[in-house]
Amino acid sequence: MLVFKDEPGLPAGAPCLPERPMQIELYRGAAIAPHIPGLASLRIAVFREYPYLYDGTQDYEQRYLATYTAAADSLCVIVRSGTTIVGAATGVPLADETDEVKAPFLAAGRDIARVFYFGESLLMPAFRGLGLGKRFFAERQAHAQALGRFDWCAFCAIQRPDDHPRRPPGYYPLHGLWRAQGYQPFPDLRTEFFWRDLDETTASAKPMAFWMKPLT
Ligand SMILES: CC(C)(COP(=O)(O)OP(=O)(O)OC[C@H]1O[C@@H](n2cnc3c(N)ncnc32)[C@H](O)[C@@H]1OP(=O)(O)O)[C@@H](O)C(=O)NCCC(=O)NCCS
Repeated sequence: MLVFKDEPGLPAGAPCLPERPMQIELYRGAAIAPHIPGLASLRIAVFREYPYLYDGTQDYEQRYLATYTAAADSLCVIVRSGTTIVGAATGVPLADETDEVKAPFLAAGRDIARVFYFGESLLMPAFRGLGLGKRFFAERQAHAQALGRFDWCAFCAIQRPDDHPRRPPGYYPLHGLWRAQGYQPFPDLRTEFFWRDLDETTASAKPMAFWMKPLT
């Protein structure tokens, strides 16, 4: 029996058991707002893991997630078990993203109005391998397609060296999952984001590679 209420970074709540049915909820735009504290806690918990190693704070996360509540056509897919958010995926028209996300597309001469951007796909470890990651892609692609004005879905991922000292044994790279969903890396779309890894004293540049899939 697994109980997540004591997981660091997750809100205390009713015990959350894997055998309890999971609920998948879809929210758009301002309707995401009530879920931001739970989403922020999930991001903080999962992004502490390799390859992100990111030490988030509720304050930063809530400001980050405001991009999604401010955009009318954003989507947030939430997986809830009991009262706890155990998974989430976000997406937003690239034109509504921050300048640092838009910059590589603008530099490459791409039309940002035709791109729907995926912010993140996150599951607590006990909920991985159940098909929810693929469901996250399917829901966001269907949403982008239904909006009817996008040619591409895109996301970006950190690039860590294979011999990174904090790579845990048995770490499973996600490239296979992404390729199986029809995504490929676009070498003309690269950038750097800055954050402080858990074992760093100051923020450092993190190389980020963008992946895209044409919407048909
Ligand atoms: C990304 C993430 C949401 C994917 O969720 P998931 O539950 O593993 O995804 P699914 O179960 O839908 O699909 C996993 C697929 O990838 C493969 N896979 C993923 N992890 C695997 C593992 N540890 N061992 C073997 N295969 C694995 C499987 O082949 C599976 O496909 P299949 O069912 O056709 O065999 C989850 O891994 C996660 O939260 N990771 C940490 C956060 C992260 O890095 N997010 C991505 C960037 S924001």
